[in-house]
This record gives sequence, C-alpha cells and structure tokens, in this order.
Amino acid sequence: MTVENENNSYVFQGYITKKLPHVKRGEGCRIVVEKDGKLHEDVFDGITGAAVGALGWGDEDIHGIMTEAAKNHTYTFPSLIGNSQSEELAKFYIENSPKGAFESALWCCSGSEANENAMKIIRQYQLERGQPKRTKIISRESSYHGFTLGALSISSNPRAEQFKEILMDQKELCLKMPVCYPYRFMKKGETEEEYCARLIHSLEQLILDNDPETISVVLVETLPGSSLGTTPPPKGYLSGIRRICNKYDVVFMLDEVMCGTGRSNPNGKLNCWENFLTAEEAPDIQSVGKTLGSGYVTIAGVLVGPKIKKAYAEGSNCMIGSHTYASHGFNCAVALGVQKKILDNDLTKNIFEKGNLMGQKLKKSLLAYDNIVGDVRGIGGFWSLEFVKDRETKEPFPYKLDVGHRFQDVCFENGITVMGMQGNIDGVSGDIALLAPSFIITEDDVSTIVERVTKSVDDMTVLLKAEGHF
Ligand SMILES: Cc1ncc(COP(=O)(O)O)c(C=O)c1O
Repeated sequence: MTVENENNSYVFQGYITKKLPHVKRGEGCRIVVEKDGKLHEDVFDGITGAAVGALGWGDEDIHGIMTEAAKNHTYTFPSLIGNSQSEELAKFYIENSPKGAFESALWCCSGSEANENAMKIIRQYQLERGQPKRTKIISRESSYHGFTLGALSISSNPRAEQFKEILMDQKELCLKMPVCYPYRFMKKGETEEEYCARLIHSLEQLILDNDPETISVVLVETLPGSSLGTTPPPKGYLSGIRRICNKYDVVFMLDEVMCGTGRSNPNGKLNCWENFLTAEEAPDIQSVGKTLGSGYVTIAGVLVGPKIKKAYAEGSNCMIGSHTYASHGFNCAVALGVQKKILDNDLTKNIFEKGNLMGQKLKKSLLAYDNIVGDVRGIGGFWSLEFVKDRETKEPFPYKLDVGHRFQDVCFENGITVMGMQGNIDGVSGDIALLAPSFIITEDDVSTIVERVTKSVDDMTVLLKAEGHF
C-alpha cells in the first residue's frame, strides 16, 4: 500500500517512509537544505556528505571539465577496450605518491567496491606466486571498510554485527586484531612506544596462533573515520605492522577511502600514510575513494604496489574478472580534473594547515570548560569529538541516549553539518562526531566552524543536563 503523504519517500534509504532533508543547491562550503518544509539557507558543510567534498560545491572549472568529458565520452567494456582517461588518472596518482610506492591502479565506483576488488587482487596475487594456502585476512576490531558483504566481513562494528550470519567466516578467514585507540586503551603510565609494542606483539601472536603460512594480508584504515573517530596511529604503529608483514611475507594493505586523497597529507600530495611511513614502508596495496571525485563523480580505486604487479606480470599477466563500470572514462576524466585543480591551487596544503588550525581551536575552546566533550583528535582536514559523561573516568553516555546522532541534529539547527556516530568503544557504546570540510576553507570558515560546533556542544550539554544525564 502506498502511503499518500507528501512526506512519503520513494527512495529506499535512511528512514523508509519518511523523506530525509533534501539539499537544494551548494556554493563553496555552504549548502541550502530543505528540512520539514523549511529552507535552511546558510548551512556550513562541515562534513561534506561523508568526507567526500574536496573542492566545495558549484565549482565552475569542474562544470567545464564535466561538459567536455561528457562530449568526449564513449563507453567500452574496460577489460576489452580501455581508455586514455583511466590511464591518465592512474599515472597522476602514481606520480604524485612517493616514488616506487605504486605501479598500477584500478578504478571503480565506491569504497566498498574498491575493498572488494583489493581482496580479490590479493587472493589472486597469492595464487600467482604459488601460495594458495594464504587465505586469511587480518583486519581490526572497531573498523569500517564498506557495506558490501565482503567489505562488511573485514569490518567490525554495529553495522557488521547485524549481518554476521551471512558474512565470511570470522574464525577461519576474517580474523580481527585489537583496535588501536590510545584515548581509551593506552594503559595509565604506558608510553606511546610501549602501547605500540603491545599492539604489534598481539598482531604477531595472532599470526603465530593461526599458522603464519596461511595469512594473506593485514589491513587497517590509516586514520580511522566513521568507526573510531579520526584516531591517529601512535608513533611506530604502522611501521610496526609493515615490519611484521615483511617478516611473515604477508601483504600490507591500507584503506584510505575516507582519510586519503589529500584530506590529511602533510606534503601537499595525496596519501595519509605519508604522515607515518617512508616510501620504503609504503603499503603493498591501498584503497581510495571519496575526495578522488569530490562528489562530482562516483569514483574510487585500488592502488597496486610493485610487488603485486610483478607477481601478476610474471604469472598469468591477467586479472580475473571486472565490473561493467570499472575505468569509467567520464568519471576518470572528471576525477583527474578535480585532482589537478587541487594540486595546482595547493589545496591539500591549505586543508592540512586550516584543518589543523580548526582542530587546535576546537581543542582549546572545548576542553577548557565543563561540557560533554572528552577528546578532540584528528589530522589535517579530518577531526572528531568524542563525547563522555565524565572527562576523568571517560565514562560514555548510555547507548539509548543516542548522543552522537542527536548532536548531529543540534549542529544542523545551528547551521553546520557533522556526522554523528555511535559504537566506537565496543561496537555498541560510545558517541563521536566527525568533521571533514572542503579543502578550500579559509580562516574565516575555521572561525565559523568553531563557533557553530562550540554552540552545539553547549546546547547539547544543556539538553543532557536538563534530562538529568550530565
Ligand atoms: C575507511 C572506509 N572504507 C570504505 C568505505 C566504503 O566506502 P563507500 O561508502 O564509498 O562504499 C568507507 C565509507 O565510509 C570508509 O570510511
């Protein structure tokens, strides 16, 4: 039965029978949103959808590139007839990554699809080099790698939990190592180095307990986003994983779908891992997405390092399988235009500086007085707030209070979008809010973000006090 109501939605997403707020238009960092019949004219896009926007909205240069790309676009099935646009985008990404890190790239349409492809590329790599027993994938507790069944299987969070009966085997295939979460799990008196050593030791033990010759890959998000709230890895953590992977001849993979492609790069370039790893320690394979197309096109990808490419080249020299819309010429041309504009205008450098300024200002402003914020953390253009009932004990709010999502609504009423999430501590409890503005933000925009977020924290604190929860 159709629900005859102007608030009914015909799109199967979010709330099924209720229309979500609709975006009407956008310019730069601001969007106009219609919600419950009311037009919100000046909403600062603090999260750019889901950390997607790099160039901001309504970029006329990109509109021009899209027009040209549409005129020149001809679809072919990419495994049979390729195109120059996908070649050029791959060359650009490889040339703007540390020398020798990557040698090849696959383009697809979403981060989930990128991770699915990466899992299959890694599996075939093990077959190509005569290691068929290597099937096991080690990822992390409290992680998110996408919503397809394979990507959910290598994730660990409330979304995955609900589908566990139909996911890949969690005991024999998709193993989980402990989360890396210093704010909560670094012990009192423990140094960063000691915490790191403890985590690396537990990874090594997991490998030893599960027959090292059957382990295929270790995979982590460089800077976890929606799962954990932009928790930077402590010094030595990622290089420790690299070392263990080398020791046991296991593939080292990074997921940079949310944190990569310029969002948090210290060198004006692309990869987030450049904050933590040398070129020699680069991942063997990496997934990317989101800011690659900056929301103008649906594109994501897998970057393949020399070790993996060589095994294929010296083996079958063939990749099994492909997707209809892989290497899509239009998407690749627009993504290349986006990335060239970002590079030519030093926008990665801009978001790294302004993002860090935003983070420091939020820290200074929010941690200086009594409110619900327990921690402010992040790097460059990717930051989070973690909410606690008690700053000393770090006690979270009860799950049923839904603080993360309610904070998101309060922010919207105060004219800023953020992403509220729950379950960061143990898959159920814990509340965070994420910020990931466009790379084009100015110092004035930073002030606007800090003002609107601070006001929202104050409003939410008052609300929880009135309810007797704080
Ligand atoms: C780290 C990470 N990997 C993969 C994905 C999945 O990307 P998509 O939603 O484009 O499928 C996400 C989405 O947020 C993500 O944060």
